[in-house]
Amino acid sequence: MKPTIAIALVLALAVVQHASLAAGAGAGPRVIIVGAGISGISAGKRLSEAGITDVLILEATDHVGGRMRKENFAGVNVEVGANWVEGVNGGKMNPIWPIVNSTLKLRNFHSDFDYLAQNIYKEDGGLYDEAEAQKIIDRANKVGDSGEKLAATLSPSGRDDLSILAMQRLNNHQPSGPSSPVDMVVDYFLYDYEFAEPPRVTSLQNAVPAKTFSDFGGDVYFVADQRGYESVVHYLAGQYLNTSKSGDIADARLQLNKVVREISYSSSGVIVKTEDGSVYQADYVMVSASLGVLQSDLIQFKPQLPKWKILAIYEFDMAVYTKIFVKFPKKFWPEGQGREFFLYASTKRGYYAIWQEFEKQYPDANVLLVTVTDEESRRIEQQSDNQTKAEIMEVLRNMFPGKDVPEVTDILVPRWWSNRFYKGTFSNWPIGVNRYEFDQLRAPVGRVYFTGEHTSEFYNGYVHGGYLAGIDSADILINCARKKVCKYHVKGKYD
Ligand SMILES: Cc1cc2nc3c(=O)[nH]c(=O)nc-3n(C[C@H](O)[C@H](O)[C@H](O)COP(=O)(O)OP(=O)(O)OC[C@H]3O[C@@H](n4cnc5c(N)ncnc54)[C@H](O)[C@@H]3O)c2cc1C
Ligand SMILES: *[C@@H]1O[C@H](CO)[C@@H](O)[C@H](O)[C@H]1NC(C)=O
Ligand SMILES: *[C@@H]1O[C@H](CO)[C@@H](O)[C@H](O)[C@H]1NC(C)=O
Ligand SMILES: *[C@@H]1O[C@H](CO)[C@@H](O)[C@H](O)[C@H]1NC(C)=O
Repeated sequence: MKPTIAIALVLALAVVQHASLAAGAGAGPRVIIVGAGISGISAGKRLSEAGITDVLILEATDHVGGRMRKENFAGVNVEVGANWVEGVNGGKMNPIWPIVNSTLKLRNFHSDFDYLAQNIYKEDGGLYDEAEAQKIIDRANKVGDSGEKLAATLSPSGRDDLSILAMQRLNNHQPSGPSSPVDMVVDYFLYDYEFAEPPRVTSLQNAVPAKTFSDFGGDVYFVADQRGYESVVHYLAGQYLNTSKSGDIADARLQLNKVVREISYSSSGVIVKTEDGSVYQADYVMVSASLGVLQSDLIQFKPQLPKWKILAIYEFDMAVYTKIFVKFPKKFWPEGQGREFFLYASTKRGYYAIWQEFEKQYPDANVLLVTVTDEESRRIEQQSDNQTKAEIMEVLRNMFPGKDVPEVTDILVPRWWSNRFYKGTFSNWPIGVNRYEFDQLRAPVGRVYFTGEHTSEFYNGYVHGGYLAGIDSADILINCARKKVCKYHVKGKYD
């Protein structure tokens, strides 16, 4: 191509782009937001505050909140998605905390994990000796501390990153990492229970310490309010969308049951198509669907996203964390100070390992929560709830051999991984992805912008990560729409 023609083409493109933006002036550009989870709702709020009020939020399900979701379980609303405000009482204020604890006053409970040593059950029943268990916990924490020190010495680019398991080997001289049942369950509690993937997978540099806790504080508060943790998202939406007298969002800018299947984009605008055949035009689109959804073929991009973008999406991990609630006709487990959390030390790592009882949260409901992750989550999602119930009964009868353990009367097994609108529960930073590749997850592609917890600069995987990512991604769009700064700078690989 001759240089003059190339220049002419560039000029022509620039004119088209400018003309379409000028046409939208006055009312401001039109922005379609895909998804009404906390990040999409937060992005919409930020855009509205910047005067971009012509937004249209298309949500696949019949409700707002996404992965913040309550469900009625045998008479009480429990959280099948996010449950804790994580990172409280530190140097900076977690932005979710004042909404939960002051504005909405959602009922919440500080989770105290200091008593675990007295609550670790042997595979065949009975408790481990507390002093012995405490030694193992202290040792694991010491290894974690030296991991933090090591992480602080690594190049910020991520080129020297290693897995948490590699760090443990460095400290422990154990070829396979923690391997006795009690070592394994403590390890599972420390890492898998937080990141939903094993230490072999998780990046040391981006997890130890997690910025959520080093910035906002080490405390976590469990939300147990009948209005649901999702009311945080309703509250944010109510800041800029019309609500009815009953408090529900009633605004033409929020459309439920709209499954986005296709996004066409060009230098002049975007066209979004939904499963029911509707077609929407806008100047920009902001995609907040989960990383798992982006890894699937639910949304087709036309033209296809560039290779760097696709690779960033494929290299990052969508983890699975499953909260199984079970109800009994009566209690048979210990209660009282320091008994809330208990562990089952199976020879099979992560087999129904982490238990929580709710005498404070849901008194008299006789409900227990057991959490599984990763491969166990995928296995359990694919089997019948009856099968899961039977496995749980066997585990509990093993743990409490002398006790009369009655049959489970109700069971709730969320299936986030099988759900095509989620395909997992939250993102986890795997070994091998550097900061540069992570930034590409958020980087816009032309007029297509991205948000969601997986794009959060420092807090991927969390509610506050979704909330802050919505603000950050909206700011990137605002810069382009309002100030014509459309080039998004992704840091160099080794910056
Ligand atoms: C089981 C579980 C436990 C968790 N525990 C915690 C916790 O204790 N503390 C914490 O801080 N975080 C926790 N998290 C993480 C937290 O819930 C998420 O990080 C956060 O809610 C994600 O918000 P989001 O807006 O990025 O994504 P989402 O909530 O997934 O929102 C995206 C929305 O897009 C919609 N969508 C998807 N595809 C389409 C489509 N094609 N067209 C239209 N709409 C579409 C979805 O229905 C969804 O509503 C947990 C998550 C889960 C699932
Ligand atoms: C939460 O709110 C209650 C009631 O206002 C207050 O007493 C408490 O200190 C708050 N908790 C934190 C950790 O800020
Ligand atoms: C919001 O409510 C007002 C007053 O009821 C109504 O006039 C307006 O059309 C509503 N806006 C949208 C976008 O639904
Ligand atoms: C589960 O098992 C019970 C009896 O234990 C039976 O009545 C019920 O039909 C089973 N449900 C399914 C879905 O298999």
